[in-house]
Amino acid sequence: MCGIFGYIGEKEAVPFILEGLKKLEYRGYDSAGISTLDQGKLFLSKRAGKIADLEKQLKKKPIGGDIGIGHTRWATHGRPSHANSHPHEDCQGKIVVVHNGIIENFLELRRELSEKGHKFISATDTEVLAHLIEENFSLPAGPLRREASRQGGDLHKAVTKALKFVRGSYALAVISEHEPKKIIIARNGSPLIVGFGAKECFLSSDIPALLKYVNMIIKLENDETGIITPNKLKIFNSEGKLIKRKRELISWDPESAEKDGYSHFMLKEIHEQPNAIRKSIEGRIFAESHKIHFDELNLSDEEMRNINRVVFTACGTSWHAGLVGEYWFEQFAKIPTEVEYAAEFRYRHPIIDENTLVIAITQSGETADTLGAVWEAKAQNAKVISICNVVGSSIARESHGVVYTDAGPEIGVASTKAFTTQLVIVYLLAILFGKRKGKISDHDATKLINDLIELPTKIEQALYQEKAIEKVAEKFYKATNALYLGRGKGFPIALEGALKLKEVSYIHAEGYPAAEMKHGPIALIDKNMPVVVIALAGRRYEKILGNIEEVKARGGVVICIATEGDFSLAESADEVISIPKSSEALSPILAVVPLQLLAYYIALKRGCHVDQPRNLAKSVTVE
Ligand code: G6P
Repeated sequence: MCGIFGYIGEKEAVPFILEGLKKLEYRGYDSAGISTLDQGKLFLSKRAGKIADLEKQLKKKPIGGDIGIGHTRWATHGRPSHANSHPHEDCQGKIVVVHNGIIENFLELRRELSEKGHKFISATDTEVLAHLIEENFSLPAGPLRREASRQGGDLHKAVTKALKFVRGSYALAVISEHEPKKIIIARNGSPLIVGFGAKECFLSSDIPALLKYVNMIIKLENDETGIITPNKLKIFNSEGKLIKRKRELISWDPESAEKDGYSHFMLKEIHEQPNAIRKSIEGRIFAESHKIHFDELNLSDEEMRNINRVVFTACGTSWHAGLVGEYWFEQFAKIPTEVEYAAEFRYRHPIIDENTLVIAITQSGETADTLGAVWEAKAQNAKVISICNVVGSSIARESHGVVYTDAGPEIGVASTKAFTTQLVIVYLLAILFGKRKGKISDHDATKLINDLIELPTKIEQALYQEKAIEKVAEKFYKATNALYLGRGKGFPIALEGALKLKEVSYIHAEGYPAAEMKHGPIALIDKNMPVVVIALAGRRYEKILGNIEEVKARGGVVICIATEGDFSLAESADEVISIPKSSEALSPILAVVPLQLLAYYIALKRGCHVDQPRNLAKSVTVE
């Protein structure tokens, strides 16, 4: 939800910032802006539109300087426009601010500041920050000035004071003509990371955007502020006390954050799934000894045995991973399991206790509602573990235990490899709990683990269908509606398939349990609406055949995801996409792969911006 990138050093800041913002564009992309300090003077360039539009504007009218901050926006307050784009200025144009998050009491602050004579030109919540800092900024004279600057300077003091009036979440960066050799930063809720080069520092909302330049970083924590100079970051707590923190080495490979020859990140990430799964299970499963081990789970065997209820909580695609997990936990561990949207869970006083395990699933580890759900679960004494893809993310740190997926950075807004690696971890957790609770034999655990070891190769085989899927996309890309049906674990996969399609192609799509079709969606069926059916071999196969017949009897068009070698479906379905045979338990992970490709190719043929679909953001750090 909005991206921030900054540079301070000896080189021109704008090229770094543009490059960084392009990498952060997945966080929001309806407007962008950069502000620099050149010879002590502030310069600003911003506009509605993509970073590429800002880049063109900057080519025509460049701004220079070796210090700068930039922003790519996902609108919350005020539509995308020049005035609402960041950076925002104070009345005198001497202080500029970029912000990610939401200032909840901005209306109140805006009224008070207006009464004091501040003039507002945007509809954003962020603009109050610029004015609030201006209001709290004063340049003392003489020795007091020296003392102030020893403590971090007046600008830093003004930011710290201003933030005392603010309610809400923020990551922000401030530069000013008043003190033109530094960037002031602050964080509460939204991520902010500083990367260290040789006589230069970078600032970013996420790690991948920094990988090209640095591998040593420091993450700012909540309620901290900082002063960045070319050689240094000084961190302060909310009382203004200096804090010491070591730089961390990031082990992510910069190559893996690039497109690597694929036309889109989404396609690259779909293809990365076999290896992402291999990496996510490596060192964690031991088939011969049927052992599963997670380093940071933080649950004793006894605590695991005592768990009598599991609640998955998540948003979006991660919520779908929880829905599949419900089947696995009930099947392998025999623990009653529920799945809750994080935004609902956090506010409805859930009845949970110390024997409830709350599993928060989140790719980014920063989703505001999931974080809120974790707080709520902890407040009710539940045990909380999270499944995250970003090491050290807020949710990972707030949870009692964490299992990291090892998917590598996921840049495409529509989640693919993060989802399948989440599923793999959930599957292993369900087996682990099954073992601890004595509900699953060593023999069965070994079998389930062995099935998982074969999964990456099977996904590679499923990916061979890419050309065939592209042809199916060619036939259906003009559709305006689509229905996805599945039974059992195929149902959450139907939901995920429909979500992928609507996210990237803007075709209205619904996922339904196949049996529920008769209770409403059947009214929609006609020759123009493709019905995608997950019709895999297994217990529910015959029932799903019945559903296919129901669609065909009403003149509907059926696209089936089928198990390899199932020739009978070819007679009833219009299109059949095959996936390799696998255990029934793991079939949802395989079945989602062709649905990801189908959504991708349909979106591509419709000319959609696949990696950055309109109105979406990868990391939703607002409620
Ligand atoms: C956004 C993204 C989705 C993601 C969801 C939850 O809506 O566009 O792809 O599934 O947030 O994100 P999380 O990082 O918590 O998994």
